[in-house]
Amino acid sequence: MDTLTTPSLLYLNGVTVSFDGFRALNNLSLAVEPGEMRAIIGPNGAGKTTMMDVITGKTRADDGEVFFDEQDLSRLDEADIADLGIGRKFQKPTVFESHTVEDNLRLALRCDRKARAALLWRESADERRRIDRVLDTIRLGGLRHVLAGSLSHGQKQWLEIGMLLAQEPKLLLVDEPVAGMTDVETQQTAELLRHINQDRTVVVVEHDMAFVRELGVKVTCLHEGSVLAEGTIDQVSQNERVIEVYLGR
Ligand SMILES: Nc1ncnc2c1ncn2[C@@H]1O[C@H](COP(=O)(O)OP(=O)(O)OP(=O)(O)O)[C@@H](O)[C@H]1O
Ligand SMILES: [Mg+2]
Repeated sequence: MDTLTTPSLLYLNGVTVSFDGFRALNNLSLAVEPGEMRAIIGPNGAGKTTMMDVITGKTRADDGEVFFDEQDLSRLDEADIADLGIGRKFQKPTVFESHTVEDNLRLALRCDRKARAALLWRESADERRRIDRVLDTIRLGGLRHVLAGSLSHGQKQWLEIGMLLAQEPKLLLVDEPVAGMTDVETQQTAELLRHINQDRTVVVVEHDMAFVRELGVKVTCLHEGSVLAEGTIDQVSQNERVIEVYLGR
């Protein structure tokens, strides 16, 4: 066999995105391997969220390539990219407050176009199994009949992560999941993401360095739309440029 490398699950090559001449992403290249969890750090305005916007098709790259699962994403729209298996969590939780925890998950399942096409979801045993499995993962089984609006901020974030898991993405993109969480919730979120990473690839953007350290994964620091440093948390946090533009502020 000649194949020496397995293809990356996510591959950005020379991606540039300009807003009125300002380069939010500037020749950004990044590869995430299947099964990996990657943490992305970097100062405000570094392009972290814009990178997620490009991956999910919300924003078009002006230049460069984005591949997921060996498919070129440049001509696909947001719904097609989601169908390929990319789930994205925005910073602010957007759960349905007046529905129960369980119903939020059920709604998320039924929004999954592929699942809906394949099965009759109504009252199906598969649906119940999937909901139970997600509730178990996000540890909200005991609160399944509670209204989502009465959950704590951290629990709402977990529920929203659960709503993404219900759609069984191959790649989960999570933008600042622990902002506004207590220390205990932050710790539990690190555990949750590590658990999820046992069978899914994860890219997580965070400013909370204690949380990033807790994840224990490879770290990429973005700055002015490109990669400034990449490596272990110790390597990246000791990098002089990273200290200068980000950590030492
Ligand atoms: N739709 C847009 N129109 C114009 N400028 C934009 C747009 N989206 C992002 N930008 C700009 O692009 C740059 C990168 O923004 P982005 O939100 O990606 O940064 P970030 O790394 O996520 O920062 P933060 O840590 O504050 O979330 C910023 O200067 C931002 O103002
Ligand atoms: Mg951002």
